[in-house]
Amino acid sequence: MTRKKPEELRSHRWYGVKDLRSFGHRSRTAQMGYHRSDYAGKPVIAIINTWSDINPCHSHFKQRVEEVKRGVWQAGGFPVEMPAMSLSEPFQKPTTMLYRNLLAMETEELLRSYPADGCVLMGGCDKTTPALVMGALSMNLPSIFVPAGPMLRGDYKGAALGSGSDTWKYWAELRAGNISEQDWQDVEDGIARSPGHCMTMGTASTMTSAVEVLGLTLPGAASIPAPDSRHAQMASLSGKHAVEMVWQDIKPLDFLTPASFDNAVTTVLALGGSTNAIVHLIAMAKRAGIGLTLDRFDQLARRTPVLANLRPGGKFLMEDFFYAGGLRAFLTRLTDLLDLSQHTCVGKTLGDNIAGAVVHNDEVILPRDKPLLPNDGLAILHGNLAPNGAVIKPAAMEAHLRQHTGPALVFKDYQDMADRIDDPDLDVDKNSVLVLQSAGPQGAPGMPEWGQLPIPQKLLKQGVRDMLRISDARMSGTSYGACVLHVTPESHIGGPLALVRDGDMIQIDVQARRLDLLIGHAELAQRRAAWQAPSVKFTRGYGKLYLKHIQQADKGCDFDFLEPDDESARQHLPPGEPEIH
Ligand code: FES
Repeated sequence: MTRKKPEELRSHRWYGVKDLRSFGHRSRTAQMGYHRSDYAGKPVIAIINTWSDINPCHSHFKQRVEEVKRGVWQAGGFPVEMPAMSLSEPFQKPTTMLYRNLLAMETEELLRSYPADGCVLMGGCDKTTPALVMGALSMNLPSIFVPAGPMLRGDYKGAALGSGSDTWKYWAELRAGNISEQDWQDVEDGIARSPGHCMTMGTASTMTSAVEVLGLTLPGAASIPAPDSRHAQMASLSGKHAVEMVWQDIKPLDFLTPASFDNAVTTVLALGGSTNAIVHLIAMAKRAGIGLTLDRFDQLARRTPVLANLRPGGKFLMEDFFYAGGLRAFLTRLTDLLDLSQHTCVGKTLGDNIAGAVVHNDEVILPRDKPLLPNDGLAILHGNLAPNGAVIKPAAMEAHLRQHTGPALVFKDYQDMADRIDDPDLDVDKNSVLVLQSAGPQGAPGMPEWGQLPIPQKLLKQGVRDMLRISDARMSGTSYGACVLHVTPESHIGGPLALVRDGDMIQIDVQARRLDLLIGHAELAQRRAAWQAPSVKFTRGYGKLYLKHIQQADKGCDFDFLEPDDESARQHLPPGEPEIH
């Protein structure tokens, strides 16, 4: 194994040379209280920390970053914490998805413009994970991800509560008049009782697990609950390993391949993971110069059983998953579906990383002969309503709706839906198909998690808990229901979803992967000719940049100018280095 020499470090150009500028870098580092022996000839490890006072999922990162630094110091590196935009899922409006690419850009440019030799990426709350990884892949320095870890189980009168999933469940019960305001208050008090990200198999747990399978974390890192002392140990060990990765020059594009992304997709499917992973993994793969398509998800879904008995599709929570053996044990149940020869950031293969892991609870991590679903954790639909694809999660819907035909009830945007959904005179029954327009990447904008349209109150009172819903929005990974999502092209740019009218018959057949609007070509053409493009929502600032460059959901919603060009993707070239003047 060849090891880098200190003068080959990227930071050497800032610190090691003898010129006027390096004098400035050294004297200003001294100003911060560091002696030159603290950093001279050592790898500078940038710690990109998405802590913020308004991100509850990362509230422990103030402490964890000290543990990462401890590991970096112990391994002979020089840790430099760099705060980055936090993307707090519960608070940021209209949606964190509007800002995923901004954090990706910030990550890439922090790494490019400062003397980083390697980096530790600290994230976990939904979009932070793909954003940090996308930026780091584009910069391609030695990189390791420290997942925030799930919070502890929620508690309500002694029963376990799951993030998101139980919010939707008890909200529906409150609206149906089945629980009291005091019950609802008790749910509010008990559902989030420790630091850490959502503890259902929502987007956060899905993405951190995917990133572990890609080989970008220490083995076993993604499943450790945030408050567990082993999480602090993992943070420290990740800091240590970041230093070693620099000396060994282990960079993500050296080991990421189409097969490692297939492994990540297979894992997401077997976990019954979030539909959001589709958008994020496509975008991450593209940053690595790898073409991952919607159809690849569908191919892998047909052969992959759902084995994680975790909410929203199953019963348990991430804390239970950790005690059952966590992701490493889970992957031992999928070995025939994974390419275990894929390399990882620890210099070993995925197979090496899971060797010896044992499942401790067959109720949580199901055996292959007792899957939650035999296949189809997610499914990709095509048809005249979604020419470029749409997404559904068969694992989280009532089975009778997988084949359904019903009349459309159309809401032209979110406000229209919010204004009318509980109207007692709404012309709706359990067979209706709720359609939400203008909720996609351009339309909302930002493609918010509006795709789990609420069941109309009058149907809730009749006992209806699921119905077919269609939109170009996303859905929270903690949600459930017969929700067709990510319809592409979106309605705002004239996709067929924009042409649906009340009463049109819509047909879904999940098994056949079809989604169709049952009206004739001539009628559709007539409506298309009459369609008028809606007005633009942002005329300045970041929003204007976003609207100009955002791509559709089937392309991963990255900005067109952030994808590698063909040449650099093919050769895995790092981007240009800054001049140091
Ligand atoms: Fe942060 Fe769910 S709110 S992961």
